[in-house]
Amino acid sequence: MPSISVFGAQWGDEGKGKIIDLLSRDVDFVVRYQGGANAGHTVIVGGEKYVLHLIPSGILHKGRVNVIGNGLAVDPLALMEEIQGLCERGVQVTGENLRLSRGAHVIFQHHRRADQLAERWLGEGRIGTTGRGMGPCYADKAARTGLRIGDLLEADRCRTRLQAALAEKNALFEKVHGEEALDLDTQLDIYMGLGDQLRPFVGDTGAEVRRAYDEGKSVLFEGAQGVMLDIDHGTYPFVTSSNTGTGGVPAGAAFPAQNIDRAIGIAKAYCTRVGEGPFPSEDHGAEGQAIREAGCEYGATTGRPRRCGWFDAVAVRYALELNGAESLVMTNLDVLSGFPELRAAVAYDCDGERLEDFPAFTPLERFSPIFESHPGWTEDITGVREFADLPPAAQSYVTWIEEIVGRPISMLSVGPSREQIIPRGL
Ligand code: GDP
Ligand code: IMO
Ligand code: MG
Repeated sequence: MPSISVFGAQWGDEGKGKIIDLLSRDVDFVVRYQGGANAGHTVIVGGEKYVLHLIPSGILHKGRVNVIGNGLAVDPLALMEEIQGLCERGVQVTGENLRLSRGAHVIFQHHRRADQLAERWLGEGRIGTTGRGMGPCYADKAARTGLRIGDLLEADRCRTRLQAALAEKNALFEKVHGEEALDLDTQLDIYMGLGDQLRPFVGDTGAEVRRAYDEGKSVLFEGAQGVMLDIDHGTYPFVTSSNTGTGGVPAGAAFPAQNIDRAIGIAKAYCTRVGEGPFPSEDHGAEGQAIREAGCEYGATTGRPRRCGWFDAVAVRYALELNGAESLVMTNLDVLSGFPELRAAVAYDCDGERLEDFPAFTPLERFSPIFESHPGWTEDITGVREFADLPPAAQSYVTWIEEIVGRPISMLSVGPSREQIIPRGL
């Protein structure tokens, strides 16, 4: 497995943390390339639950190098808390097994505040962000007013750039929102202090990963969020602020596109979404509620209840095609046990017209799903480890999904723990 990109093929929370932890057994480097602490990747090992936000999901395996690439928006406070939290639980995090790009953008307190104020300002039109400052930080990156991790390590540069950034943000806080200004010296103290603490982890991670790949080491690129939340290809404007799929890897990890050897999408056996925005296959009734309870569908970062619905083959097909994925990993199959009838959206309807292809760049609100049904099963499948041991209806559900997404399912997950996996050898 020289290099592989693993991404979320729905609206996030597909179980990327669990699958990436599992795949990390066989790789040397695990590299995040976008997003930030808006992500919440859950890994359960030996009954212990870890929720990772910025640190890649390979950290629980000894000997892996975990990389936070230049494409991330890093909140240094959140990162230090995450490092300390892991160390307190006996997981070693050092400058050897965690690398932080000098080029990653810094999320400051003013970004978090601006994110929350913007949401309040938008009112009914809010995105339902995680409030972690992602949008404002990426906006500053594009406006060329942001600071990068390397800037925190140089006092003069940090002061000049933060002063300019705060002058603008404070005017917004005071004049538009009627909030108090943030004090430059206090902010400098906090963030330069954090920069000092992070210094041992900082380097040119792109060069480190490219060199390792050239020497024959294997690299896994860990996506955060999901394709439907991609800033370009998702359900804009109800998206996050980065390129969440394989397309984000070259820029966000400083890794040549032609060296990405494989891509795999991850999707749940049903579908969830947190925050606002269109979700064609959402079930607003008792079954959506039942999926939420059976799947414990509450956000790993914010604790918000996730909106739940049925598998959307139109969206997943698009996600896999767009990202050049050869196969799909299906998670949470166990959650569907006990539903007498399962459904999946196989196409969309728009004013009586049937659409098989995902309507990219068109507001999804105009489309309603065309569902097909599949018989359910009642057995608990959390202990099953072989495809042949699944109830026939579960086997047939999986092969039906393969048919309607047009890609093989290479692995099934039947519970949150590492060992609850059914490999399919495809
Ligand atoms: P991520 O953001 O894609 O890493 O996913 P999250 O960690 O936010 O959410 C996935 C949730 O599903 C977590 O609570 C996982 O522990 C859990 N999970 C992962 N795989 C499975 C599975 O196959 N079955 C069940 N029941 N839960 C799973
Ligand atoms: P993981 O990596 C699910 C959603 C938010 C909101 C929108 C924009 O755990 O799958 P942001 O804070 O990024 O500006 O919010 O994106 N969102 C996620 N939903 N899983 C995530 O990450 C998400 N990260 C952001 O709920 O709708
Ligand atoms: Mg998550």
